[in-house]
Amino acid sequence: MKDHVLVYRASTDLRQVKEPRTVSADSGYTNPDDDPRGPWMTSSYVNPATKDRRPNLVYSIDRPGADEAVEHPTHAWKYSPAEHARHVAEHRLWWGTDGNADYPRLKLYLSEAQDMVPVDVWDWSEVGSSDDGGNEVKRIFGHAVFDNPKPTGLVRKAISLIENPDAIVLDSFAGSGTTAHAVLEANKLDGGQRRFILVEMEDYADRLTAERVRRVCEGYGFAGKQSGGNSGPSCSTWPPTALRTPLRDARLTSTSAKPTMVSTSGSFTSPTSTGSSRRTPP
Ligand SMILES: C[S@@+](CC[C@H](N)C(=O)[O-])C[C@H]1O[C@@H](n2cnc3c(N)ncnc32)[C@H](O)[C@@H]1O
Repeated sequence: MKDHVLVYRASTDLRQVKEPRTVSADSGYTNPDDDPRGPWMTSSYVNPATKDRRPNLVYSIDRPGADEAVEHPTHAWKYSPAEHARHVAEHRLWWGTDGNADYPRLKLYLSEAQDMVPVDVWDWSEVGSSDDGGNEVKRIFGHAVFDNPKPTGLVRKAISLIENPDAIVLDSFAGSGTTAHAVLEANKLDGGQRRFILVEMEDYADRLTAERVRRVCEGYGFAGKQSGGNSGPSCSTWPPTALRTPLRDARLTSTSAKPTMVSTSGSFTSPTSTGSSRRTPP
């Protein structure tokens, strides 16, 4: 079974969505020629476009130690003549171990590698499974208190795509409070100061959603069948200054009212559920 997670930006302030580099991604870089610039990998120099389509990227390339220049029979190169001249000057062209490759490849150095474009399939072994989400909640409350909570690893992964370590994370369908838990974990891991706003309309907003946040903040340990737990507080200060008593929106007492965010400074917002239409988020 697959979960579909929609991650979108609400403002152009968020310009870049990248994943931190992983050990596995970095392991593709090697240094077979002892390049003083360190480990490298290569990318193709050949453009997917044909010569007809990119005539400005068609030129001859000198192969070191050979008389004849190299041209591609059908396709253009990927780089302009000026960029190519820079690559040559910086000794970035790789012609294979014996120097006889048909076409050059471009050396890309690990020292210059940037964060990665996120992949769109997140494997459960990386971000956790439904079982993991359930077990996390059991470890906090001692028994199952919510159906199908998300694993914190999944939400933490979404949070990790945002570079700002002081971001405010909004979850308007808070449920068991996984998002707050994930934010606190993310802060603990990288020293960030992210804050969260949770919205939950059901009557468990305080006794479940907010209670999970309190327990995670205080540190919890469960001595039953579930292993694990969280021995120390996850909040930098306790009680955290931003963690407020859940708010209830008096405007939601009429049957036609819809849930509304009532606070941007409080970290927990809990409109009453009377008359609110329940929607299940994607
Ligand atoms: C699928 S659950 C979220 C589970 C959560 N991701 C977790 O890991 O526990 C959706 C939650 O959103 C709440 N909800 C649905 N519609 C809402 C609304 N209009 N306003 C506030 N909360 C709402 C539901 O009560 C439910 O607790």
